[in-house]
This record gives sequence, structure tokens and C-alpha cells, in this order.
Amino acid sequence: MGLPDERVPMSSPRPPLIVPSVLPADFGRLGEEVRALADAGVDRIQWDVMDGSFVPNLTFGPDVIADARAATDTPFEAHLMIVDPDRYLGQYVEAGCELVIVHAEACPHLHRTLARIRDLGARSGVALNPHTPAEQVAHVLEETDLVLAMTVNPGFGGQAYIYAVEPKIAALRRMIDDSGLAIELEVDGGITDVTIPGAAAAGADVFISGSWLYGYEAGKAAAVDRLKTLADRAVVRS
Ligand code: DX5
Repeated sequence: MGLPDERVPMSSPRPPLIVPSVLPADFGRLGEEVRALADAGVDRIQWDVMDGSFVPNLTFGPDVIADARAATDTPFEAHLMIVDPDRYLGQYVEAGCELVIVHAEACPHLHRTLARIRDLGARSGVALNPHTPAEQVAHVLEETDLVLAMTVNPGFGGQAYIYAVEPKIAALRRMIDDSGLAIELEVDGGITDVTIPGAAAAGADVFISGSWLYGYEAGKAAAVDRLKTLADRAVVRS
């Protein structure tokens, strides 16, 4: 009997990347918080940008990110959970985000939007809400550097991981491997030491963690190490 659908053998898996979300941070001390994440050895830092419309929450304008940019050299990614991302792409790139991720559900001209992000000098990414099928990105793989499969409904930290997304992560992994393109496959929402093995076995190689990483008793650096070890161990190598 073969592997369950949601476990995908990978011939040359990349080392897992651990990327904290800034959402659990103390917003009154963002510079220090960002430096503490950098000191913990994270690979990138994610800014959850929310507009109160695409999601029922409000967070970071580009100026906030620009002010925190001086605190570290660690790369920033902007996850735009906003209804009209085209209006703000340039501002988030100028604020110092080397990767800008837009939601497929918010982009009627997704192919053009992803190309524009690259024209602005940043790497591009497309995110899918839990209900959105993998096929939505099938025709824009040439335009994107990253695909993000949300494992919670976006808008808040501290939510439970949606296991039903794992077959879609596996489908995205197969789609990316078949394309031969060097596209990162990121998951976001409810990532903990319990849920990361399943996401890694399904083919994800970039992992966002917010509340679990911030709440880990042994500290942020130990949290990053633990997530990396568990993800690396769970990868199905062909
Ligand atoms: C939710 C955000 C996530 C969230 C992750 O809309 O996109 O990045 O902050 O937080 P946890 O890890 O607590 O689910």
C-alpha cells in the first residue's frame, strides 16, 4: 500500500525555514521585538498586514514596518490580507519587505499583480485561504516565488490548525515539483510542535509560527530549533 495522499516524497527537499509572525509581539516595542527574533536565528520575519475588510482585524501600515526595518538585517516578508493590494505594493517594498505576498482571493488580475511585485524589485508570493483550491495558482507559477497555504482562516493568531488543508499542501507540492520551478511552499496558522510534522510531510518547506513560538517556555531560539528539527525529521525523502 502506498503513502497516504497527504505525504509527498521529495527528491531534494530544501532545509525548512522558520518564520515568526510579529502579530503576538508587544507593538509598543516593535524594534526590540524584531531584534529579539533576529537574535533567535529566524530565517525571515513575517508582517501580517490586515485592513479590517479582507479580514476582520487591523494591523501594520508600511510606515510601521519601515521604522522597524533599521532594527535588523533579517529579511522581511509582508503578508497582505487586504482587499486592494495593488494600491500598496510599492509602499511595502519601499518599507523594506523583500517578499510581498498577496491573496489570490483579493486579486482579479493575479498574474499582473505578481509580475508587478517582481518589477518593483521584490520576490512575489500568492496566498490561498483554506477553502480555495490549489488549481487557483496553476497558471501563475512562472510569476511567483512562493505559494502560501493558509492553515487557519486569516485574521487572528492563536487559532487551531486546519488538518483538512494537508491534501491541498500535497497537491501544491506535486504541482511545484512537476513545474521544475524553485518555488517555496509556505504554511501559516496553528503551526506548533504537534502540527508541523504533518505539514512538512505534505511538502511544505517554510513555516510561519506566531503564538506557539512566542509562548515557548524555553525561549524563541529553542522554539526555532525544535520546529526546524521536527520539520526536517518529518520530510518524506524519495
Ligand atoms: C493569521 C496570520 C498568521 C498568524 C499566525 O491571519 O496570517 O500569521 O499570525 O499565528 P499562530 O501561529 O498563532 O496561528
